Amino acid sequence: MPTPLKIFVAGGTGAIGRYVVPALVNSGHQVSALARTPASAAALAADGARPVDISLFDRQALAHVLTGHDAIVNMATALPSTARFLSDKAWRRNEYVRIEGSAALFDAATAVGVGRIVQESVAMVYPDGGAAWIDESTGPDRYPRAVCSLAAEDNAHRLTAAGGTGVVLRFGVFCGRGAEHSELILAAARKHIATVLGPPSGFLSSIHLADAAAAVVAALEVPAGVYNIVDDEPLTKRDYARAATAAVHTRPWLWAPGRAALLGGRRLTSLTRSLRVSNKRFRAATDWTPRYRSAADAWRAMATERT
Ligand SMILES: NC(=O)c1ccc[n+]([C@@H]2O[C@H](COP(=O)([O-])OP(=O)(O)OC[C@H]3O[C@@H](n4cnc5c(N)ncnc54)[C@H](OP(=O)(O)O)[C@@H]3O)[C@@H](O)[C@H]2O)c1
Repeated sequence: MPTPLKIFVAGGTGAIGRYVVPALVNSGHQVSALARTPASAAALAADGARPVDISLFDRQALAHVLTGHDAIVNMATALPSTARFLSDKAWRRNEYVRIEGSAALFDAATAVGVGRIVQESVAMVYPDGGAAWIDESTGPDRYPRAVCSLAAEDNAHRLTAAGGTGVVLRFGVFCGRGAEHSELILAAARKHIATVLGPPSGFLSSIHLADAAAAVVAALEVPAGVYNIVDDEPLTKRDYARAATAAVHTRPWLWAPGRAALLGGRRLTSLTRSLRVSNKRFRAATDWTPRYRSAADAWRAMATERT
């Protein structure tokens, strides 16, 4: 059992957050978490966390609440739903939450001496790597949709520069109940539609939400820096889509949208590029091992989980 810490969580009610809060509590940590609605507060309390009703952007209130905490886990995002993924307006909200939210947390953390921030980021900040493996030494691609994630990363690094520990976790594409796009892909698979975004030979790096949550717990003990949180065996997009249909025992009759997704240009590049991302650095720094070694395992698990 790790040393029990006092942890403040932002984004604890989201797709990944709903797995992270119980994982932290079950590891013996004392968790307080932002709740914006009574329903969220009740869900967090049921998971063993103390709900806190303040604004993510209110530095004074944050500093007050953060006093005495050892670490912050920031997973607050406002990623557009799949239906609004191409909308610039919908992305502006996400940019505000990621950029201003992470800045407010950094300011409040330094004001009251919180020593560690674990910041959620995405593996999609890497440039298209074709079939080559990508590790943390690869510089990010500062395309418009990536800028807010990179700004949040910078706020974590500012804590390191100020003498604390800023840890950035670049997650692969989530798989699991509650991650909207993976629900949609599995629903399409049940109708014999294999979802492929971009060239089918490109790679996609995935992570089951349970493994993502376990990585957040492990990240409370790693040195400052950037770590990729992906499974062991990224699949090609063709195999990823085929694995989703296999998980629900169907055969793919239609492959969509495929290369046509490239027409989305820079608005869809985060999903159409080829990303064969390595988790070696995080695995060397921790004893974390993904339970679901590839998306094929994750799809199988998701297909049998309760909706
Ligand atoms: N990495 C990937 O896999 C990837 C790629 C593409 C798409 N997606 C999709 O995007 C979602 C990503 O999951 P996620 O957990 O990162 O995001 P999410 O499920 O959208 O959760 C976002 C979290 O941030 C909080 N939040 C949003 N606006 C806030 C604000 N103004 N102040 C304070 N908190 C705020 C939300 O709180 P409330 O509950 O109060 O709203 C929630 O806790 C998934 O549904 C997934 O399908 C993920």
